[in-house]
Parts: sequence; structure tokens; C-alpha cells
Amino acid sequence: MTLILGLESSCDETAAALVTGDRQILAHRVAGQEAEHRPYGGVVPEIAARAHVDRLAPLVEGVLADAGVALADVDAIAATAGPGLIGGVMVGLVTGKALAHAAGKPLVAVNHLEGHALSPRLTDPDLAFPYLLLLVSGGHCQLLLVEGVGAYRRLATTIDDAAGEAFDKTAKLLGLGYPGGPAVERAATDGDPRAVPLPRPLVGSAEPHFSFAGLKSAVARAAASGAHSVADLAASFQQAVVDCLVDRSRIALAACPGATAFVVAGGVAANGAIRAALTGLAHDYDKRFVAPPLWLCTDNGAMIAWAGAERFAAGLTDPLDTAARPRWPL
Ligand code: KG4
Ligand code: ZN
Repeated sequence: MTLILGLESSCDETAAALVTGDRQILAHRVAGQEAEHRPYGGVVPEIAARAHVDRLAPLVEGVLADAGVALADVDAIAATAGPGLIGGVMVGLVTGKALAHAAGKPLVAVNHLEGHALSPRLTDPDLAFPYLLLLVSGGHCQLLLVEGVGAYRRLATTIDDAAGEAFDKTAKLLGLGYPGGPAVERAATDGDPRAVPLPRPLVGSAEPHFSFAGLKSAVARAAASGAHSVADLAASFQQAVVDCLVDRSRIALAACPGATAFVVAGGVAANGAIRAALTGLAHDYDKRFVAPPLWLCTDNGAMIAWAGAERFAAGLTDPLDTAARPRWPL
């Protein structure tokens, strides 16, 4: 069975994993950078790139040791080549190139978004193409029809902020710190989701696009009024995001009757309220709902290794002069 080493370094997680072509996750390790970025209330690209330099090589040695395999046993090296913070992307990609060159193995340059898009197939062997995917991360908020490896039809995107970005900015303005999504979700558990009236941008419009900038500004105004608790603000914000994601996904579901499943992936898919609401929506449309386990939603090496495995199986490898791409639409 093919064995793929995957490297991820496009934002603030350094990660490596060993995954087989038949979906065995032999080893995976993730090193976060919360302590480094927390004093700044968000990810500082230069600090992130330096942290990736320090951590990636030991992580690679670690997963090889965990799985009890040698680099020579690996069939291909998959590395994120974009999109993301370019310094970090370069660290992972150049490490992947060096390993591929040293071991005489092919390189698979993976689009980070493709990593998220295919990740549900790693843990769900029955998930067949085409499926409707809601991809919600820190940098992206899209509805995609995933028709096959490398075949993605984008149905909708955000016209301003991504959903995760809205969580992160809201956390910052509510004083909940970084990383924002999990902090808002925790604060929301004690709040009333109907306490603070907030807008639902674009809800009801015929095109399934997203918008979150106005919502974040409304939270800022409500917080400044001093009339609401942080818990109520967090819960009301989270409910507004849920309502936007559900309303927009409904249009895409209606437009894609042939989809085998409704799937959510990306860091924001770790949110319990969002998973619960999307489960109900899929049920309304008689679709199977698929969401990867929480650890596979946020950035990790296994999703890059798996996308690498899918591409490698399709005969798709990349030359060693492949460029890192800060922007790279699917
Ligand atoms: O996919 P990811 O790890 O990195 C990117 O590719 O962007 O997603 C990170 C985003 C961050 O904005 C983070 O706040 C958000 O996912 N996130 C969450 C939760 N966990 C992570 N948002 C809401 N609720 C969560 N539990
Ligand atoms: Zn991501």
C-alpha cells in the first residue's frame, strides 16, 4: 500500500503525518503556536515562519519514529504549497522538496484548500463524488461541488471576511483572546443566542454568497453599548453565523440534487453549534451529513498527506521547482 508523508505549515500549525492510500493514519503530530502569537492577539506571519523552521524537522522525525518507518519506505512527500502566509508555506514546501530530493521520491504540491476539501474522505470511505462541501476556515468560506480529485466547482464564496476570521475578530473585540473560534464557542455556552439583535448579512438573497464584515461591526457596536454580557454577545454572534451558513447552504443544496452528501470541513467545522445546525439541514434535504472528527477539521498534516495520496493515486506529482503560492484558488 502506498505511504505518503504530509507536511503542513500554511498558518499557525506546524504538522506532519504518515497516511496510507487505504486510509490508515500511521502517525500524525501537530505543534501549535498559541504561546508565540497570544501576546499579539493574532497570528504574526514572521513569528509563524520562524516557528515552522524550528519545529518541522523534529515533527517529521517524530512521525517516522511513531510509525516505525524510514523515509525510504515513503512513496511520496506531500507538502502544502499554498494558499497561506507565504513565509510559512515556503518552509513546508522547501522541506518537502529537500526530503523528496534526498530520498529520491516524488513531490506532491498540495493546495491547502484541497486538503480540507478531501479530508472527509480520509475518515469516511463511503463518501463518494460528487459531494456538496461547505469549506469554513480562517481564510475561506466557500460552497463547493467536489466532483473528483482536482475537480472543484465553486458555487459561492465570501464577499468580505471568512467565517473563521469573523470568529477571530469577534473574540478579539470581546477580549476572549486568541485562538478565537474555540474561545467564542466556550463563552457562548453560558449565553442566550437570542439576547442581542444582530444582522444576518445576505440571508434571503438568491445567490449563495457569504458576508460577515457587517456582523462583526454590529457585535462591536453592541459590545460598546455595555448593555450585554460577553456570554450573550458570543452566543448571539455564533447564532448569527449559524443562521447565515444554514441559509446559504440551503440554496446550494437545492441547486445540487445529485450530490451524494452534504459535507463540512475546515477549522470552523469544529464548532458544535454549527455541526448540529448543518446536521439538521442535511436531514431536511435527505442528504447524508459528513463532518470529519474535530482534530481533522483544524489544520493538520493528515489532510495534506491524504490529499497527496489521492493525487498520487491519480498520477499527479509535481516538479521540484514548484513555486509557493500565497493565493491559490481551488
Ligand atoms: O482550517 P483552519 O485550522 O486554518 C485555516 O485554514 O484557516 O481554521 C482556523 C479557523 C480559525 O479562524 C479558528 O478561529 C476557527 O477555524 N475555529 C473555530 C473553532 N475552532 C477553530 N471557529 C469556531 N468554533 C470553533 N470551535
Ligand atoms: Zn486550514
